[in-house]
Amino acid sequence: MNESAIFDAGRIDPALRVSLIVASDRTGLIGTDTGLPWHLPGDLRRFRAVTMGKPIVMGRKTRDSIGRALPGRFNIVLTHNPDYRADDTCVVNTPAAAITQAVEELKRTGGNEVMVIGGAEIYRVFFPRADRVYLTLVDGEFAGTTRFPTEKFAHYPFTATSETVFPADEKNAHACRILILDRTESGPAWTWESIQNGTT
Ligand SMILES: NC(=O)c1ccc[n+]([C@@H]2O[C@H](COP(=O)([O-])OP(=O)(O)OC[C@H]3O[C@@H](n4cnc5c(N)ncnc54)[C@H](OP(=O)(O)O)[C@@H]3O)[C@@H](O)[C@H]2O)c1
Repeated sequence: MNESAIFDAGRIDPALRVSLIVASDRTGLIGTDTGLPWHLPGDLRRFRAVTMGKPIVMGRKTRDSIGRALPGRFNIVLTHNPDYRADDTCVVNTPAAAITQAVEELKRTGGNEVMVIGGAEIYRVFFPRADRVYLTLVDGEFAGTTRFPTEKFAHYPFTATSETVFPADEKNAHACRILILDRTESGPAWTWESIQNGTT
């Protein structure tokens, strides 16, 4: 099977978990021209813990905004530019190649989860193939430019399997809820509205 067939064939491989990890405000906002709309060190710590040791897939714009490879993870960057290079990074030109590289890395290191870390364009590409979404819902509405494709929940059914609330504190100005949403064939499908309300 060629690369694009691997990606187009539907859910990629039952043994492989493709997970999106994203932090969004109530409206689906995820980014500004310069990066994240908020500073939440607690959520960054949790992001680090959940992604550590795993292959991570990101868009070229997210990579440029981070400015370096994230340590302890196999960094895969998607770009259409065949000449793009970045330190300590595996550069690929198709989503299928990103999955192929992640699978090769998992064969070397063990594990079964590839983490898609954004941004919006990359979430849109991988959403139909995602088995899980780690969603941090930041309490508030912020100004910015980039949105998570929240409308996709209406087309691809996910159900919340875990929720944890983190109140604001002296280091984190905004409260947040972290949900794990798993793709479901038979469970209740959560829309963006039900995710906000905490119930279907
Ligand atoms: N809140 C969060 O959790 C979170 C997480 C990550 C990012 N962000 C934010 O999101 C924003 C960036 O998101 P974005 O949507 O603008 O950009 P992005 O998704 O990071 O990157 C887009 C780029 O990826 C490449 N690309 C996209 N689809 C491709 C495909 N099918 N094949 C090959 N390459 C492809 C293209 O690179 P080329 O132009 O080089 O061809 C495209 O310009 C920033 O504000 C960032 O801070 C937020």
